Amino acid sequence: MASPEVLARVHALRREIERHNHAYYVLDQPTIPDAEYDRLFRQLQALEADHPELAAADSPTRRIGGKPLDAFPKVRHAVPMLSIRTETDTEASGAQAFDARVRKELGLDERDPPVDYSAELKFDGLAINLRYEHGVLVQAATRGDGETGEEVTQNIRTVHAIPLRLNVQPPPAVLEVRGEVFMRRDDFERYNAKQREAGKPTLVNPRNGAAGSIRQLDPKLAAQRPLSFFAYGLGEVRGWDPAPTTHSGTLDALEKMGVPVCAERMTGPGASALIAFHDDIAARRDQLPFDIDGVVYKVNRFDLQRELGFVTREPRWAVAHKYPAQEEMTVVEAIEVQVGRTGALTPVARLAPVFVGGVTVTNATLHNQDEIDRKDVRVGDTVIVRRAGDVIPEVVAAVIDRRPEPAPPRFDILQSYPTCPECGSHVVRLDDEAAVRCTGGLYCPAQRKQALLHFASRRAMDIEGLGDKLVDQLVDRGLVHTPADVYGLGLDTLAGLERMAEKSAANLLAAIEASKATTLARFIFALGIRNVGETTAKDLARHVGSLDKLIAATEADLLAVRDVGPIVAQSIIQFFAEPHNLDVVNTLRAAGVHWSETAGVQQSAGILAGKTLVLTGTLPTLTRDAAKEKIEAAGGKVAGSVSKKTYYVVAGEEAGSKLTKAQELGVAILDEAGLLSLLAANNNNEQHVLDF
Ligand code: IVH
Repeated sequence: MASPEVLARVHALRREIERHNHAYYVLDQPTIPDAEYDRLFRQLQALEADHPELAAADSPTRRIGGKPLDAFPKVRHAVPMLSIRTETDTEASGAQAFDARVRKELGLDERDPPVDYSAELKFDGLAINLRYEHGVLVQAATRGDGETGEEVTQNIRTVHAIPLRLNVQPPPAVLEVRGEVFMRRDDFERYNAKQREAGKPTLVNPRNGAAGSIRQLDPKLAAQRPLSFFAYGLGEVRGWDPAPTTHSGTLDALEKMGVPVCAERMTGPGASALIAFHDDIAARRDQLPFDIDGVVYKVNRFDLQRELGFVTREPRWAVAHKYPAQEEMTVVEAIEVQVGRTGALTPVARLAPVFVGGVTVTNATLHNQDEIDRKDVRVGDTVIVRRAGDVIPEVVAAVIDRRPEPAPPRFDILQSYPTCPECGSHVVRLDDEAAVRCTGGLYCPAQRKQALLHFASRRAMDIEGLGDKLVDQLVDRGLVHTPADVYGLGLDTLAGLERMAEKSAANLLAAIEASKATTLARFIFALGIRNVGETTAKDLARHVGSLDKLIAATEADLLAVRDVGPIVAQSIIQFFAEPHNLDVVNTLRAAGVHWSETAGVQQSAGILAGKTLVLTGTLPTLTRDAAKEKIEAAGGKVAGSVSKKTYYVVAGEEAGSKLTKAQELGVAILDEAGLLSLLAANNNNEQHVLDF
């Protein structure tokens, strides 16, 4: 038998561990480091192993899952688990229709005050009934057909957010809490990334992740899936006194007992409160950390709920008001590729039209070959398509069960497109790249078109009216080969194009003319140098000051510019090393494209002015030269040996005697990240910020 001391220690450990669990999984406010938690947990495990007679249903050690089952036992629900009516009208007026029905059933007319409603989210997971007897979780069951479900207690115990014991004194004799087990999107992504790395199967979506985990016969496997829980109602209740009289009061009470309740809920009078909630959540749906498929409205007062009662299996006092689905199934009719500005061939699935996320979708990106391989999407497959918010629709997964027989072959971009569909140039895949690329460069009309559109875009040369329809015609008819040709276009040529009246041709010419007065930053950005985005273009313009200096810049010069690393520097050097690129630049200047130049930003004295640093070992990303350049740009000097005068030693992998020497002399030591943050501080100190 365990001594009273052991018994007390076991109880104290259980309480403490569960307190940390709640803080971490429900409140999202960790109280102790993981290692400390593990230590407590192991202590408890050891004590329980020594004293099997102390086994308890509410011990946190039960959360790691026991023996696999052959099947889930069936459970008859003490109170049936109902489903909920779906309001067919997805517009805000759906809330009005619900309110009108409720008022009619309750016999209210316009003179009666508004009904109080409670509104909450419709979580997209698996419904669960949690049975607490005298405060201890004794059983968890799925909904099943509403009358009979499956007992999944072991698996539910692995969900850390679910309390094993209610925090209430005295606890009700019986309290059944109903709610939804689900998976947060970030947990889903993290889990899938880990699975991919291990070469193991991934989950299709968070909902399947949640449902699949709970239906997992081996609780050890279930324990590896990160699940969450929110309560939304009650089942059987005995001996709860005083019991809440409203739905919102119930959720508040459950929350106090340590049961997770979603904070996104509200109570308010009449349809207008419901509409406000509906619209507010609709606007923020994509920012929620988990998927929902709508909102749920409930009459708040239990006495009114009882008065309203049920029709078949659905209560008259609740309704689900759905949002357009963000995932639907459809068939891949073909896989084609699109050639982008950089020549990347992006595979696109052509789909049988499907209504998803509020629009009809016929194309969805497949990103690149790695994604096609990972999802194993083939022509003819039924796939799940997702469109959330304004994001480009994407193929989430192939539904392998519905793959046609015989199975279509795997799709390989290089095999299907050995040459570019736009220009016939060879297509290559470089070893370290996900993308397959056309080697045609500006010879490739697709790349030429994209380059032109980029050149004319608002943040680049800002030529209003030079859109994709026009660019298509100009390139297809051979009127424009490079951006420089844009400045040679005349009224006659333009007016001869489709959908181009003389008026719009004149407007376009005026826009082209106006674009000639530009800034160096816009011009650099407009050139479409690989890896040089708008911000880098601005930094370059500010730092270098003139185009000729940029053309003549060495790698070292470029590395001195904020945020320019070796890859960007190489892209710039390669771009200006191409004679035809220089031709384009010169023709543009000759055509009258102009900007004002400066001497470039003078660095202030520099954060490292007068300081000597020593480099040792291999840095993770910077070459020694690059690091030296950056230090010098901040006013510092780089020396070969360490002395007392050394300001910092920057040490990387396999640093040798210089590091030891620094330690002996007490010289401060930095790693690459430390150096970079120091230099970032320097860049923020730049003076003379010029207007360009
Ligand atoms: S209330 C009597 N509230 O939707 C009403 N259900 O068909 C019982 N669901 O299987 C359900 N979020 O799994 C309710 N806030 C919420 C919900 C919710 C999701 C699910 C639940 C049930 C289905 C209703």
